[in-house]
Amino acid sequence: METVTTKQEVRNRVKEWRKQGLSIGLVPTMGFLHEGHESLIRRSAAENDRTVVSIFVNPMQFGKNEDLETYPRDFQRDKKSCEQAGADLIFHPSPEEMYPPRFYSYVDMDTITEGLCGSGRPGHFRGVCTVVSKLFHIAAPDRAYFGQKDAQQLAVIKKMVRDLDFDLEVVGCPTVREADGLAKSSRNTYLSEEERKASVILHKALARAETLLHQGEKDPETIKNEMMRMIRSEPLAQIDYIELVDGENLQPAAVLEKPALIAAAVKLGKTRLIDNYMWE
Ligand code: PAJ
Repeated sequence: METVTTKQEVRNRVKEWRKQGLSIGLVPTMGFLHEGHESLIRRSAAENDRTVVSIFVNPMQFGKNEDLETYPRDFQRDKKSCEQAGADLIFHPSPEEMYPPRFYSYVDMDTITEGLCGSGRPGHFRGVCTVVSKLFHIAAPDRAYFGQKDAQQLAVIKKMVRDLDFDLEVVGCPTVREADGLAKSSRNTYLSEEERKASVILHKALARAETLLHQGEKDPETIKNEMMRMIRSEPLAQIDYIELVDGENLQPAAVLEKPALIAAAVKLGKTRLIDNYMWE
């Protein structure tokens, strides 16, 4: 496994691989890798001849008052995770390499970036779409791997690839969880011991929603109210949003039909956690 820091080095490796007729998978990440990320890398290594992992804390997708400065980083540990999971190349660029001076171009999207995480994080998906488009151009993969954990991001990237004719397949991968159900996240390290205990309410509320759906409940308000009641019973948790939307276009659903996405964000102290259940 090799680590490179420039776009040109990635292009050179990819060109060599292409000449040999090898297929390429890409796993975009912001580092501080956990088993969720590793599952994506493993899947890519199983389905492609070569796997590129990008590790880049993308400043463009962070809001002014968000955690860009404190976002956890540990490149040496990440290198080991990548190697063990079967990556062939790590792309670890500097912000200047990705955004040279006088950078004026963006990839943006309307409608499906407006609800859920988009409403509380203006500009976030513009940053995600721009950096992911750049990574798609740089690594030119056959397949790119994203987690269902960030359901809106996955839906946005799928739409972007379709709308803008990127010649690659977007592969969605299941959410990897802790033993008590909390979705693994680099941001879980921010939680105090008390908050960590309380955080399980997010998964519990989604699991309850899943049960209600399977029992035939089709009214989004009924499910939302039940989730709100549960989360409010946990004093440390504050609801940021609970949304029940169409699973593809992420528009509010009047009646729940497959595919439907139930997505929620809660704050525990300063930490914002997201999770979701996709009914499909
Ligand atoms: P990051 O939060 O590092 O996540 C990288 C990828 O890992 C995303 O596709 C995310 O959905 C996936 N992932 C995170 N936790 C997971 C879990 N518990 N189970 C399965 N997959 C999980 O998402 C980003 O970075 C950035 O927005 C990025 C796409 C890299 C653009 O900067």
